[in-house]
Amino acid sequence: MTLKAQLEALRDETLANIENVADLKALNQIRVETLGKKGPITEVLRGMKDLSAEERPIVGSFANEIRDLLTEALEGRKEVLETAALNAALDQETIDVTLPGKQMSHGTRHVLSQVMEEIEDIFVGMGYQIVEGYEVESDHYNFERMNLPKDHPARDMQDTFYISDEILIRTHTSPVQARTMEKHDFSKGALRMVSPGKVFRRDTDDATHSHQFHQIEGLVIDKNITMGDLKGTLEVVMKKMFGEDRKIRLRPSYFPFTEPSVEVDVSCFKCGGSGCNVCKQTGWIEILGAGMVHPDVLKMSGIDPNEYSGFAFGLGPDRVAMLRYGVNDIRNFYQNDLRFLNQFKVKE
Ligand code: PHE
Repeated sequence: MTLKAQLEALRDETLANIENVADLKALNQIRVETLGKKGPITEVLRGMKDLSAEERPIVGSFANEIRDLLTEALEGRKEVLETAALNAALDQETIDVTLPGKQMSHGTRHVLSQVMEEIEDIFVGMGYQIVEGYEVESDHYNFERMNLPKDHPARDMQDTFYISDEILIRTHTSPVQARTMEKHDFSKGALRMVSPGKVFRRDTDDATHSHQFHQIEGLVIDKNITMGDLKGTLEVVMKKMFGEDRKIRLRPSYFPFTEPSVEVDVSCFKCGGSGCNVCKQTGWIEILGAGMVHPDVLKMSGIDPNEYSGFAFGLGPDRVAMLRYGVNDIRNFYQNDLRFLNQFKVKE
């Protein structure tokens, strides 16, 4: 084969290879192999010394021509492959701004706070004011003013954490009522209040007892308040909390600060009264303690029981939450186990 024919064959083969190569690395490989120092073109040029003086410039310029042609083809192919690689990268790395973002994990209101706020809202809607007091209280406001002198046997109903002889952590939110009653200006109208908050009792913790729990106590004082007002109010509240079909019933009970005193049951919201596991087959759920404010409690707060009367009630939000959500251990509310708490996540 003549040198020219060799060069032509090399040109055609290399051009085909360049056309077929799919990545930049392989393309570079072709460049090195064809145009490099050990490549066939260099070889041909080296062999020129054996050619005649006439042939030499012809073959020489032909070889140069082919080298230029291949160099150009390599450059062209390189550009095509680089553009393709860039496009592929752009395609892959595109950000789809319509995709939903990563969900940020954030906290939620505690299930008890949710239940308490819901109950508070019901009372606010009925014109009650929300009053919060002190968790550290005096024996005077927690007990004495609630008609529970030091030697009163009913103090046993509320086993107490004392800080000193006169200072304790409150066993109920009633001291808030005592503090509000003595300040209330009745010339401006009736007193209607609820006091939500933490209370503490020296109980041994078990599934239904916790040394810390919550109360929402209510108090209404005005002229001519009767037991009928108490019953009507609680019926409306229970319907709002547990459904329009609920009924309530009152059973006689005893509290030192109310006379008469009652225990209030609501018809079971799960079975409607026919009997189920929630109401322990009785059709009724014990939900509140209540009564007419004892005249001595009014008197101690500077209110004339001959002119004014009132009703009071105490509600346990922990118990409401347990009933509503089927929680059978009150301690779940206080252990901060996220697996429990996350079940009550609300969209805020
Ligand atoms: N203070 C009572 C308690 O903690 C609850 C209650 C309030 C009962 C008002 C009757 C009336 O036990």
